[in-house]
Amino acid sequence: MVMIMDACCRLDFSVACIGFLIILLIIMVLIVFWAKRMKRRNFMQNGGLQLEEFIKSKGHDHTLTRIFTGSELKAATNNYAEDMKIGTGGFGAVYKGKLETGKLVAIKKALVPGDGDNKEFLNEVIILTQIHHKHIVKLLGCCLETKTPLLVYEYASNGTLGDHLQETSKNGNVMGWDRRLAVATQTAEALSYLHRAASPPILHRDVKSTNILLDDNWDAKVGDFGVSRLLPDGDEHISTAVQGTLGYLDPEYFQTLQLTDKSDVYSLGVMLVELITSLKPVDTHHRDPKFSNLALLFIHHMKAGILKDIIDPRFEVDNDSMSISSKEGHRIRSSIFSVASIAYRCLALAGCDRPSMIEVAHDLQEISDILHATRTKDVTKGSFGESASTLENIE
Ligand SMILES: Nc1ncnc2c1ncn2[C@@H]1O[C@H](COP(=O)(O)OP(=O)(O)O)[C@@H](O)[C@H]1O
Ligand SMILES: [Mg+2]
Repeated sequence: MVMIMDACCRLDFSVACIGFLIILLIIMVLIVFWAKRMKRRNFMQNGGLQLEEFIKSKGHDHTLTRIFTGSELKAATNNYAEDMKIGTGGFGAVYKGKLETGKLVAIKKALVPGDGDNKEFLNEVIILTQIHHKHIVKLLGCCLETKTPLLVYEYASNGTLGDHLQETSKNGNVMGWDRRLAVATQTAEALSYLHRAASPPILHRDVKSTNILLDDNWDAKVGDFGVSRLLPDGDEHISTAVQGTLGYLDPEYFQTLQLTDKSDVYSLGVMLVELITSLKPVDTHHRDPKFSNLALLFIHHMKAGILKDIIDPRFEVDNDSMSISSKEGHRIRSSIFSVASIAYRCLALAGCDRPSMIEVAHDLQEISDILHATRTKDVTKGSFGESASTLENIE
C-alpha cells in the first residue's frame, strides 16, 4: 500500500514538473515572440520599410548599410554610458563605441522614436549611402530594431573643427593657420563634390564648424546630413521651409525660401571668417549688438579696410609661444587676406554674386599651394600673385 502511494506521489510530482516546464516553455516562446514583434514594430516605426525600398531600388551595394543589432551597439557603448557620450545635437546624442572587432565608431542615438515618416535619420542614411568621398564622414550602418533609431559612423578622433577654434591648449597652442586652411580647402572640396559630382546634386544645408569632423590626421570629414536635400535633376533650387543654424543662414534663402547651392556657399563663407577670426558666428554677450552676427562684423571690417583688427592675434605666435619671423608673418597674413577676399565674395547678399563651391575649392587650394611654395622656394615677388595684391588692397 505504502509503495503504491509512493509511486502515486512520484507520478504527481513528475506531472507537476512537466506541467511547470511546459508553462515555462510557453512563457519563453511568448517572450521571444513578443521581443521579435517589438523589434519589427520599432523597425517599421523607424522607417525600416522606406530604407528597404530604397536599398531594393538601388539594387546593389547592400553592404553599404550594414544592419547592426541593438545588443551589439549596447555592448559597444557600455550600455550608452555617460562617459562614452561625445556630442549632442538637435537629433540626439552621439556616443563613442568599440565594436567587437576593436573598431572605433560613433553612434548617433535619436532622442525620440521615429514615426515611420521620412525623418532626419532616414534622410541621412539615404544621402550618405550614395556618396563616397575622403572628406565626407562614412556611414557604416544603422540599427532600426531599437526604440529609437541608431546610426553608426566611422569615428573622428579629433572632434569637430568648432571645438578647436576658440580653444588654446595649456601650453598656449592654437590650431595653426596652415591646418585651418587645409581644413577649409578639404571642406570646400567635399561640398563641391556634393554640388557637382553627386547625382542628383546634394545640398548640405547645415555647413558650420561644428559639423566638420576631424580625423586622426586632423583632416576634415563633413558630417551631419540630417537636413540635407537632394536637388531634383535639372532644378536650380528647391522651395522649402528654412532650416539651418543661426549665424550661417543665407539671407536670400531666408527671404525667398528658395534653397540653392549658393546657400551652402554662404555658410562656408561664415566658416571661413570663423577660421580667420576664431570668433563665434553669433555672439550677443561680447560684441556690439550691431555686430552680434559675425558676417556683418566681417563685412564692416572689410569695407573699412580694417580686417587686421579682427584676425586672431594668436597666428602671430608659433607653437613655442615665440613671435614668428616677419617673413613668415607676412606669408601667413597674406594667405589670410586672400581667404578673406573669398569669404567676402561668399557672403554677397545675392546668391548670383557668390562664387560656385567649385571655384571656392579651387581658389583655396591655390592659396594653400602658394603658402607652401613660398616656404620651400625663394619665390620672386611677382609670382606671389593674387595673395600679395589682395594684402595690399585690404591693408
Ligand atoms: N563620426 C563622429 N566622430 C566623432 N564625433 C562625432 C561623430 N559624429 C558626430 N560626432 C559628435 O556629435 C556631435 C553631434 O553630431 P551631428 O552629426 O552634428 O548631429 P546633430 O544633428 O545632432 O547636430 C558633433 O558635433 C560631434 O561632436
Ligand atoms: Mg550637428
